[in-house]
Amino acid sequence: MFLRGGSERSQCCASLTNGESGFGACDGIAGIVGDCGGGLTCATCHVMVDEEFLPKTPPMTANEDQMLDFTAMGRQPNSRLSCQLVMQDELEGLTVQIADPQL
Ligand code: FES
Repeated sequence: MFLRGGSERSQCCASLTNGESGFGACDGIAGIVGDCGGGLTCATCHVMVDEEFLPKTPPMTANEDQMLDFTAMGRQPNSRLSCQLVMQDELEGLTVQIADPQL
């Protein structure tokens, strides 16, 4: 679930079964720009992960860690790039707040 602002919500279409679908790689999620299509070169898919799910997210790579320093909103302790959140069963029901702005 993507949360934007105070009340706008969008469901994610990521498959839980293929193990390759980035959470933020879905089309039509308002507020997720995703210019590079998951290539880890734009940082416009910035989200803040709900604290409950943070320990369940996949480990952050060094490249994602570096890219988070270039987000438009500024990095938060629970920031992730949603294209790097590969869906898995443990993340079912994952809720994130969309960063604003993305550009
Ligand atoms: S879509 Fe570009 S870094 Fe995530």
